[in-house]
Amino acid sequence: MQSLQLSVFLMLGMFIIIATSSPNPQSSTEKDNTCSMVACGAAGANGLPGRDGRDGREGPKGEKGDLGLQGSRGLQGPPGKAGPAGPAGLKGDKGSMGTKGEKGSSEDNGMQLAVRLMNEQLRTLQDNFNKFKKIFIFSIGKEVGRKIFVTNGLEYDYETASRMCSRAGGLVASPKNADENLALQEIVSKHDKRSFLGITDLHTEGTFKYSTGGTITYSNWHSNEPNNDKGNEDCVELNTDGKWNDTSCTNKKLLICEF
Ligand code: GAL
Ligand code: CA
Repeated sequence: MQSLQLSVFLMLGMFIIIATSSPNPQSSTEKDNTCSMVACGAAGANGLPGRDGRDGREGPKGEKGDLGLQGSRGLQGPPGKAGPAGPAGLKGDKGSMGTKGEKGSSEDNGMQLAVRLMNEQLRTLQDNFNKFKKIFIFSIGKEVGRKIFVTNGLEYDYETASRMCSRAGGLVASPKNADENLALQEIVSKHDKRSFLGITDLHTEGTFKYSTGGTITYSNWHSNEPNNDKGNEDCVELNTDGKWNDTSCTNKKLLICEF
């Protein structure tokens, strides 16, 4: 009997220690019940754990975090705009010779043949022309530089001589230098006839000009000439010695034209 009382007493003491040291808070009602249970009978077994409490309110925003690690390299972007043209480079070396072209068409061959024939004809024409020119100059003319002097061996007054040369597409011969004067001298010497020159002072007495206009730039006057003998010498004749004399335009002299 004493041991039973002691056991009850010990159990009661332990229950009190557990009840007062329990971390779960209890309402005053539960305390009262417990107290009443303690007061009214033996302690029961522990109840089941309570339900989870409801979620609390959202807390305040946290502090800004530290800078993160550098990310991986992105994809390559689109090409940029073309830049300004650079300075011209040095001239390159000559390229190697190309391959031989394809054989031409029959049309090309025909054209080449026509060109070759025309070239041959042109060469023949040139040869014949040069031969004719030599014969022509040997018989009736002289070539000096780009000029050709020609005579028909006949004599005319100045007006007629001028007209005849113009009709033929030339002018009455007018030596502009010693070489041309010498060529004309050879013609008059050959024909042993003095010729008119295309030089007069018909416009202004004493001022000799070319038939095309312009004061003469070359002369080969005989001594004491021009003298306008009898006041009637406005044309110029070339003597066989190559010297010049003013003479009447109505005289008849060897016709020599220049082309
Ligand atoms: C000639 C001359 C003429 C006239 C004449 C006078 O030699 O050509 O222009 O000067 O002499 O006699
Ligand atoms: Ca004279």
